Amino acid sequence: MRRIAFINEKGGTCKTTLSVNVAAWFARVKKMKVLLVDLDTQGHAGKSLGVDVRTVRPNVFDLLTDPAVALAACTRPTAVEGLFVVPSYKEMSELPAVLGQREDRARLLAGRLDAEAQDYDLVVFDAPPSMGLATFNILVAATEVVIPVGLTYLALDGCAEMVKTVEEVSAKYARPDLRVSLVVPTLYRKTALADEILAKLGEYFPDRLAKTPLGFNVKIDEAQSHGQTIWDYAPWSRGAQMLEAIAREIDAAGNARRRAVA
Ligand SMILES: Nc1ncnc2c1ncn2[C@@H]1O[C@H](COP(=O)(O)OP(=O)(O)OP(=O)(O)O)[C@@H](O)[C@H]1O
Ligand SMILES: [Mg+2]
Repeated sequence: MRRIAFINEKGGTCKTTLSVNVAAWFARVKKMKVLLVDLDTQGHAGKSLGVDVRTVRPNVFDLLTDPAVALAACTRPTAVEGLFVVPSYKEMSELPAVLGQREDRARLLAGRLDAEAQDYDLVVFDAPPSMGLATFNILVAATEVVIPVGLTYLALDGCAEMVKTVEEVSAKYARPDLRVSLVVPTLYRKTALADEILAKLGEYFPDRLAKTPLGFNVKIDEAQSHGQTIWDYAPWSRGAQMLEAIAREIDAAGNARRRAVA
């Protein structure tokens, strides 16, 4: 089963926007049963799908801290047929303290999904903007990583680090196939600086840079404020077109990767 993680330590690079809409695209277009797992204290993935994350329990925190809580109990249906979400909220900030130095603390999410997510075709993770325990759980559970990179001056900085971290986790937790499958440029505006950064990303990731940068489109922001995916809120918008092209690239990158590994 594919497990796609959207990760970037830097905040506001469109991790949530991409994870929610790409998960919904796979459910709608590919007719897959998709589980979207949020691990961010902000709870934005659930919020973007209209879930009142402040009141919904059990959530991902309970899943990772209480073995008696089943994955099914933490999973909520969404307005998108075939798309289910495990919401997150503020409690997740207590995760490192609650789990302490348990030896298996970074493997908990992988363990729960291995045991209880067999009837899903795809799992998508929305990561928090930090390289803490929640993100390590995602990396150990994932089969591929997509890095959304905001096209700003400081964006390049974190990219090399991210690739190194993915390689380290892959070695440390015996996940030999885990790798960055695609780098998606986001927050694109046609300026000389953005094009310069895009060119640098192309040099760094010659075979893994998405051809479609995610440009600004207010419908994307509006859709989230209505608790809807772009496909439900503004399916004919430029935002929907860009997100669809990116979803197709993510699909193709994963398929190419699986063929290479096989
Ligand atoms: N293409 C776009 N056009 C306009 N606004 C966008 C676009 N993509 C994302 N946004 C808005 O930018 C903000 C940040 O996006 P998002 O929440 O997806 O980033 P993030 O990486 O998940 O942030 P965080 O690191 O805080 O989790 C949101 O308010 C979102 O609505
Ligand atoms: Mg987010």
